Order: sequence, then C-alpha cells, then structure tokens
Amino acid sequence: MRLDVFSIFPEYLAALDLSLVGKAAKSGLLDVRVHDLRDWTHDRHRTVDDTPSGGGAGMVMKPEPWGEALDAVAPVDGPAQPRLIVPTPAGRPFSQELAYELAAEPWLAFACGRYEGIDARVAEYAGERMRVDEVSIGDYVLNGGEVAVLVMVEAVARLLPGVIGNPESLAEESHSGDGLLEYPVYTKPTSWRGHDVPDVLLSGNHALIAQWRHDQAVRRTAERRPDLLAAWGGVVAGKDDAAA
Ligand code: ADE
Repeated sequence: MRLDVFSIFPEYLAALDLSLVGKAAKSGLLDVRVHDLRDWTHDRHRTVDDTPSGGGAGMVMKPEPWGEALDAVAPVDGPAQPRLIVPTPAGRPFSQELAYELAAEPWLAFACGRYEGIDARVAEYAGERMRVDEVSIGDYVLNGGEVAVLVMVEAVARLLPGVIGNPESLAEESHSGDGLLEYPVYTKPTSWRGHDVPDVLLSGNHALIAQWRHDQAVRRTAERRPDLLAAWGGVVAGKDDAAA
C-alpha cells in the first residue's frame, strides 16, 4: 500500500518510521511518503494560510499550495488516483470498520490541515478525480490533522496481511468480530500483590474459558459502551449476562 501524507509539520510524521508501521515500510509492505506542503508555496515566507472569507477568528489554509501538491503527487492524467483522507473534527467518525475499508485500498493520501482548516474548495477539487473522505478520530479538537493521521495509519497498517505476526490476534480484539469490547487478560504469576488470576483461566477447560471470556466481554461492554451493546443486537441477552 502506498501512503502520501501532506503536512506543514512533516517532522510530526517521523513516528511512522517506528514500531510496526516502520517495520512494514522497511519490509516493503508500505510505501510511505511524507511531503512538506510548503514545498508548493512560491513566496519568501512560504505562506500556507490566509484570513477567513466572511471574517472571523483564526486563519484558513489557502487552496493554491494544496492544488499544486495534489497535482504533483497524483497527476490529473495519472494511471491511478489515491483515496484522499482529510482529518477534521467535522468529519465522519473513524472506526474499525473504516480501518478495514481503507486497508483494502492500494493508495491512500492524507491532507493534514492546521489553523481553522483547509479552504473547502480543495476537497471539492480533489473530489473531481479521487474519492475524498473527511474523517474525525473523535469528538474533541486537536491542533491539526497530524496526530489523527498517526492514529489512522496505525489502525490501517496493522490490518495489512503480513504486518501482524499472528493474524488471529486481530479477530478477538475490541471493535472487531462480535462487536463487543475485549475481555480482560492475565498472565503469570497466578497471584500478584494479593490479586489472583481468575480460577477458570487455570482450569484447562476451554469451553468454560470461552464462555467466561464472552460473559466478561458482554459485562464490560454493557458497563462502558452500552451503545455498542445496542448495536450488537444482543441487547436482552447482553443485559441478562451482565447482571448475572
Ligand atoms: N483535526 C483536529 N481535530 C481532529 C479530530 N478530532 N479528528 C481528526 N482530525 C482532527
């Protein structure tokens, strides 16, 4: 998968060289290209922002550098176009489902906005030749899209075949498969500072362990994310399980 990231703080994306994503890049599974948006400015101050049309506080990212950047990296008459993701608190929510969808794309581009955001015509213009999604990673406001891109790239990259050593670990985690939060996990020692690993996990009875884990997942989801339990469709059984 190819990833292009546009930012006025390319150093922020240095974390993409680390850990699992960095390894995926080194092994050739990911082709990561980080671009400094200011490379597509032409004035002495390398200006990327201007005052908002209609007035108001803050600054807005000018469309011209964005247009040139997109045209340089994904030429209008190129053989393929990326799917463009624009992180913004005003976007559609990022989710595990969207991560799976993006993991199936051959080419993603991320446009990191700063200030009050990017002139809306940039998304309109890009949308004439590529799929554009404005995406939010949560109901809070960050100073720019860079951290959101790190979040999304990590969530997507770990789903690519060959990136995670044991793909079975993807199936049982929160927000995948059954739609429940993951059950609590334990390791050795069996007793630690007065806290014990639940007996059932030491029983060797795999059916009982599976049932216990499911019950714990339902209980946790009911307590922490009742909205997920409702979506799960197991509302009645879930509530009964949790109360048991
Ligand atoms: N940029 C600023 N806040 C953001 C958020 N919550 N999600 C995505 N991009 C953002």
